[in-house]
Amino acid sequence: MAELSGRKIVLGVTGGVAAYKAAELVRLLGKAGAEVHVVLTEGGARFVTAVTFQALSGNPVWTDLWDPRMANNMAHIDLSRDADAILIAPATADVMARLAQGRADDLLTTLCLARDCPLLVAPAMNRQMWEHPATRRNAVQLAADGVTLFGPAAGEQACGEVGLGRMLEPEDLCEALIGFFQPKLLAGRRVVMTAGPTFEAIDPVRGITNSSSGKMAYALARACAQAGADVALVSGPVALPVPAGVARISVRSALQMRDAVFAALPGADVFIGVAAVADYRPDTSAEHKIKKSGAALQISLTPNPDILAEVAARADAPFCVGFAAESRNLDEYAEGKRRAKKLPLVVGNLVQDGLGSDDNQVVLYDEAGRHPLERAPKPEVARAIVAHLAGLLPPLS
Ligand code: CTP
Repeated sequence: MAELSGRKIVLGVTGGVAAYKAAELVRLLGKAGAEVHVVLTEGGARFVTAVTFQALSGNPVWTDLWDPRMANNMAHIDLSRDADAILIAPATADVMARLAQGRADDLLTTLCLARDCPLLVAPAMNRQMWEHPATRRNAVQLAADGVTLFGPAAGEQACGEVGLGRMLEPEDLCEALIGFFQPKLLAGRRVVMTAGPTFEAIDPVRGITNSSSGKMAYALARACAQAGADVALVSGPVALPVPAGVARISVRSALQMRDAVFAALPGADVFIGVAAVADYRPDTSAEHKIKKSGAALQISLTPNPDILAEVAARADAPFCVGFAAESRNLDEYAEGKRRAKKLPLVVGNLVQDGLGSDDNQVVLYDEAGRHPLERAPKPEVARAIVAHLAGLLPPLS
């Protein structure tokens, strides 16, 4: 199921140059399953026309407080009543000021004042405007009023200056919105995770690795962050973007992964070992590229440490979660690993299902027994794992 399926979003577009990015945002929100209704201010309409937003959202665009299309002439009430959120992107310094004062001098601000749903604001302005004491005051006031601010980001601005004030990119706003709707089941928790394959060097250009895509781990890191956790993701080499709110620590070998995990561990409530850590590494890695001689080449291998087992064996071990990817006898092997490594929770899956694909079907194993989850896209599976895991955690002290 698309991640914003069934959500109705009112998107307010105000008069900043970033309004052109709001068009892409409408497309992304629609792709994620949301029903989008655009409210365009007079300033916003100077940058992008209503026609563009209507075509992209598939819904009429609202611009005027006195719009006769609403049968009762109350667009300012009706539009927000069954909305899940109002998102203003871009939000100019002016609209922030008007919202902070509770003004209702156009359709969008009236709608915000009359709303009974969350208000989310993505500021977009010149860095001096963002840093101005008046805007700072308004941002603080909006936060105190329960408004959520997405961004702004730092970087190059349309005016040529560089600094804080850019609107978040449409992809980041869409992610922030998806995250906003997730229950904060891991608020106040620190999660350390491993991800991807490891790469065990044979020489400077060759090594032993495996085909772990990292997708499940990254989906789980994202779900943990969206559930409110502080997430450190110790990742082997994969080509995946870092999810919002996740701190990635990039490593290559199992030994590097173990060092990074132990460095990140203090204060962790949860450790999740998702990485497909190579069980062995070459005894030695050649300093220079090995030249072919035509003769057979022997590579002697040494066992790698079991990172998960080492973490779980600590006296102050966090809540430890293991993954078991098996090609047969899933129940027996996964539950066996849970007991052998003394883990409160193991996520098992059959490898022909999981590796590299976008869907996954997993079974959770804990003290209470086995809990099969429905086959679903990895982000959905990740959220179900987070919900189960959160239910097993001791209360926050
Ligand atoms: N794991 C780890 N360090 C290792 C090996 C595995 O942290 N050196 C973690 C994985 O991240 C995963 C779980 O342990 O959470 C997998 O258990 P394991 O028994 O090691 O799986 P396999 O290596 O697949 O074992 P086997 O080959 O015996 O099936």
